[in-house]
Amino acid sequence: MFNTPIYNQNISIKNKSISLKIKREDLIHPFISGNKYRKLKFNLKEAKTLNSKFLLTFGGAFSNHIAAVASAGKEYDFSTIGVIRGEELEFKKDLNSTLEFAKACGMHLKFISREDYRNKTNSDFIEKLKNEFDNFYLIPEGGTNDLAVKGCEEILQLQDETFDYICCAVGTGGTISGIINASKKHQKILGFPALKNNFIQEDIRKFAAQDNWQLITDYHFGGYGKIKPELITFINRFNKNQNILLDPIYTGKMMFGIFDLIEKKFFPKNSKILTIHTGGLQGITGMNEMLQRKKLPLIEI
Ligand SMILES: Cc1ncc(COP(=O)(O)O)c(C=O)c1O
Repeated sequence: MFNTPIYNQNISIKNKSISLKIKREDLIHPFISGNKYRKLKFNLKEAKTLNSKFLLTFGGAFSNHIAAVASAGKEYDFSTIGVIRGEELEFKKDLNSTLEFAKACGMHLKFISREDYRNKTNSDFIEKLKNEFDNFYLIPEGGTNDLAVKGCEEILQLQDETFDYICCAVGTGGTISGIINASKKHQKILGFPALKNNFIQEDIRKFAAQDNWQLITDYHFGGYGKIKPELITFINRFNKNQNILLDPIYTGKMMFGIFDLIEKKFFPKNSKILTIHTGGLQGITGMNEMLQRKKLPLIEI
């Protein structure tokens, strides 16, 4: 799909006995960026092989995944259907920037109640969708399935074997699973969940072939999409000092956690840490709209 060279950028930190780098997967594409590209790559190939004309997927109103699927549909000639959590959104005068973008890419948005959304993996529910939309290729919420994990196994490259720790943000667990599968036994994979979900550990175990990983659950800032002024301050300061923009839902929380853990001496002396920038920057505009309404400081772009 894309041939962007991915590089590991140095992050300057006070503690000189530790080396910290970030893999700039966010530069792959403005919308199909980071783990979205990795998760979609083999799924899109499969959809083409199966001759599917439609991609159908699920997500919340601010979902990076919805934006990525909409963009991929436009770029690779699929019609796209986004099943969106929250039927109340359908009657709102203005959609948020993520949904506006998805619509502009040609995605058909189907809004459903939060209750129906909870049943989205039930066979009856899928059957109803099949009656409504013809011959679609189904991509699960967050894009995580076997082919997505296979794609995420391509995030690590040969030269990354020298790192002791590899850190990534965790949502549905597909990205970390691919990284775990591609890692070497001597490496420790740290996942930073962006939400409170007690089942994520089990989800990762379904896909991960090794046990050299650990979830750091102290940096979700209250749950999915929840943020606090200290997180915004951190993201803005990080961007100013390192010239790297982080998103507030995933990578900002992860990086906040890593800086805090370095401060708390979690990592032994001489540790080499690689963090993964999994993208998600499209969500900043929508988040800023919300912050503005709440009269909170904005993320500087
Ligand atoms: C920017 C970003 N980083 C990390 C993640 C977490 O990925 P996963 O759902 O595979 O755990 C997501 C969500 O998919 C995301 O949008």
